[in-house]
Amino acid sequence: MSAKLKIGIIGGSGLDNPDILKNRTEKKVSTPFGDPSDSLVLGEIDGVSCVLLARHGQKHDIMPSNVNYRANIWALKQEGCTHVIATNACGSLQEDIPPGTLVIIDNFIDRTTKRIQTFYDGEPNNPKGICHLPMEPALCEHTRKVILETAKSINQEVRDGGTIVVIEGPRFSSKAESTIFRSWGAHLVGMTTVPEIVLAKEAGLCYAVIGMATDYDCWRDTGEKVSHKYVLQVFQQNVKKVLSLLRALVPRMAKEDWEETVQNAQALVQESIILPSD
Ligand code: ADE
Repeated sequence: MSAKLKIGIIGGSGLDNPDILKNRTEKKVSTPFGDPSDSLVLGEIDGVSCVLLARHGQKHDIMPSNVNYRANIWALKQEGCTHVIATNACGSLQEDIPPGTLVIIDNFIDRTTKRIQTFYDGEPNNPKGICHLPMEPALCEHTRKVILETAKSINQEVRDGGTIVVIEGPRFSSKAESTIFRSWGAHLVGMTTVPEIVLAKEAGLCYAVIGMATDYDCWRDTGEKVSHKYVLQVFQQNVKKVLSLLRALVPRMAKEDWEETVQNAQALVQESIILPSD
């Protein structure tokens, strides 16, 4: 591969523990879009270069609407990442996705309201043009396939595919909202996949998500309703699954030929930009 494999890992709530990387160094960076959520943690898993970034900051003090998604993705791109594996705690909208299930999502519905979704925003110092990027497939199918194969190889059950509704937050959904999301056929609800997914694509990165259902949101008539306390509790009980999957995934990714996938991801962006005619 012309660009050397480097894997950005965006750790969501509770999944931002730098211990998973060997030979760690911290690097404070800034970008034309401002500062990312925290320092990048550079290191290795099985000799493969990785860059860990805590989406909400290592102190977890940045709420979903205030995450500088553009700076986060730009920082990972600037650091030479070819891929981003994002981890995400989310609510389940389906009975057959119980809390603790890992879901390798393949689509999203955007219900955010306040977030900038493009680097091509017409500001004088930002990338030129307008970027009309296709969203199907929404995630990198090649990366998704490798995650699914890896999960199988370590006997880690995961769900192949699922649509996540991304809400603005920080509040959870009302029961009426949750019921509507279910009627749309969505599987999960979260607060951060948009605009991260869109910006990663605009940056020509291969982006995939390991989602963990932590709760049944609030659509069920019986059982526990989502709360922050409940999310954290289920998360702690299941976090090892995600860490084991990541540890197996990174060396597996290093065995794969990504040349064409990376080139295609970058070509798609170039084809999607309309430059000013003068
Ligand atoms: N993160 C974890 N559970 C969630 C839920 N039910 N809604 C939105 N984000 C979540």
